[in-house]
Amino acid sequence: MMIVDWKRSHLDSCTSTNDEARRLLEERGVTYAVVTAERQDAGRGRLGRSWFSIPGKSLMFSVMFPSPLAPQDAPRLTLLGAAALAHACAQTGEDKLEVKWPNDLLKEGKKVAGILTEWVDVPGGNGAVIMGVGINLSIPSDDFPEELRSRATSLEEGEGAENTGTVLLDRFLEVFRAYLERVKLSGEVDLDLWRRWMRPGRKVRFSMGGNMHRGEAMGIRADGALEIRMEDGSSEFVVAGDVTPVTWED
Ligand code: BTN
Repeated sequence: MMIVDWKRSHLDSCTSTNDEARRLLEERGVTYAVVTAERQDAGRGRLGRSWFSIPGKSLMFSVMFPSPLAPQDAPRLTLLGAAALAHACAQTGEDKLEVKWPNDLLKEGKKVAGILTEWVDVPGGNGAVIMGVGINLSIPSDDFPEELRSRATSLEEGEGAENTGTVLLDRFLEVFRAYLERVKLSGEVDLDLWRRWMRPGRKVRFSMGGNMHRGEAMGIRADGALEIRMEDGSSEFVVAGDVTPVTWED
């Protein structure tokens, strides 16, 4: 089945666009939806964090669709979302972006966008995916909370963010729809779409077995785990958690 249409809704404010998408599914049986909001009062990030946004300077949306994959494989759809976002940003002229595993977008080493994917069980089906995307369009550095300032940045400085946001959302939906169609046809996620946006060899630190380690992010395995080359030449595979770049060089 082709994706015919996303039901699109725009809200002035909400707790989280992911909550609104879930409501559309649970209360109204909507399957394909895109929800955008001007402001979120309880925006969520990964790993229980909150998501900082400023109305007019951030783009926040959630895309909901029936999962083309079984629940255990669904995390790969988030990688696909990150790849589509990088692709869409590149189409709008951004050329300094890369993905940070699993699904952040970095610009010159600082985070510009993140994705929070949530899962909804659907009786008799594979389940539905709610993919929430937050993008810093034009937040001045000083307007980020202090704890984020050294790690976060925006796609652009100054005015015009609203326009950029609209263009970017349309591009994303177009690219992501095409990617999703490919998954439906082949039954798998082409992870090369994600690999295209990573730079193998990036030095990272990560936690494993309660300790911090350093290594080089080399690529992702077929199940989406991040391969890290350790100093002794061995490989570790990270399946969950945070992996942070330690240096930033072009
Ligand atoms: C992360 O990097 O930790 C993920 C951030 C995801 C933020 C977006 S904003 C739209 C959607 N609604 C939410 O509450 N979260 C996601």
